Amino acid sequence: MKNIVNNYSMIVSVMILILVTSCKSESKFKFIPLDKAEYETTIDGKKVGLFNLENKNGLTVQITNYGGRIAALWVPDRDGNFKDIVTGYDSIEGFIGNTNYFNGIIGRYGNRIARGKFTLNAKEYSLAINNAPNSLHGGNVGFDHAVWNVERSTKDSLILTYLSPDGEEGYPGNLSVKVIYSLNDSNELKIDYQAETDAPTVVNLTNHAYFNLAGHDNGDILGHILMINADKFTPVDSTLIPTGEITDVAGTPFDFRIPAAIGERINADDRQIKYGMGYDHNWVLKKTGNEMSLAAKVEEPVSGRVMEIYTTEPGIQFYAGNFLDGTIMGKDSTSYKYRHAFCLETQHFPDSPNQEDFPSTVLNPGETYRTSTIHKFMCK
Ligand code: BGC
Repeated sequence: MKNIVNNYSMIVSVMILILVTSCKSESKFKFIPLDKAEYETTIDGKKVGLFNLENKNGLTVQITNYGGRIAALWVPDRDGNFKDIVTGYDSIEGFIGNTNYFNGIIGRYGNRIARGKFTLNAKEYSLAINNAPNSLHGGNVGFDHAVWNVERSTKDSLILTYLSPDGEEGYPGNLSVKVIYSLNDSNELKIDYQAETDAPTVVNLTNHAYFNLAGHDNGDILGHILMINADKFTPVDSTLIPTGEITDVAGTPFDFRIPAAIGERINADDRQIKYGMGYDHNWVLKKTGNEMSLAAKVEEPVSGRVMEIYTTEPGIQFYAGNFLDGTIMGKDSTSYKYRHAFCLETQHFPDSPNQEDFPSTVLNPGETYRTSTIHKFMCK
């Protein structure tokens, strides 16, 4: 029986290898990238703009240094038609007012810290409670609302830096952060995060891109097929703080080891699903250390677009857009409705500063925080 299963999975893997190919690069329908002029402004005396990365296949990423946000991501489908596959706005004003963290760099701490409190070296720190009763994604003004310094911008990379002062949003230590976006000709968008501090602190950086592989204006994401490379996840309480348990996904709606449609079990009669109002949880990635490894893979069957995510991080937050409610008016007059986009945020686990058994998020002076995530685009 075991042999039959092994042979079967080998055949499936070979079929997937054959079916997942590069996308046609010649665009049948030319796309019009976001207008850079609509992103040029000055905030707190700092210049804000839009920077384009483009590879030989025409894949184009448009990033603003306001929050390091990915404003647009143009990816071909199996026939070579390009679509913008992230939520966003036609101009910078939208991002300034956005409270859903659309496609920004999240820091100093991605996801929740219980009751906005943690203790480090016997000292208690208090953070803003911006997601009652907890602190979420760095507080009231997280890194996604900071104006980042543009250290270098070329056709294939953008280097952003930000100095988060000691005490900002309640976090200790001057934290010097560098985020490098780079795009290669294998359709890989890589994000490298680095940080150094002058006093002990906690750090957990990620990017909060909201994807819809059919196109940002193309309806719900329930038909996307998702694989998450994890045997376990971290269940939460009713305020979405991990209970500290690390639970097997087997036999639960959280089992995405075998690819399944996002919508298949999203409304299951399950307490964890109820707490998240769908999926809004951290999966514990299957890996041995902090090596770069496959975390998730998403396929959109109609367009054929496929995205693989690789990371050095131990976890990934899969959030299915459960709080999108159609009130946001975005690019091309699109209103982003319930579950019209999903996020896969590579990260350390939520609330790690209060959870002794989770991998540590403490950064000390003299150490360098380094993590990397790759989004690779293909077609099927
Ligand atoms: C969180 C959600 C939150 C969302 C905000 C996700 O990372 O887990 O609970 O609503 O970010 O956009």
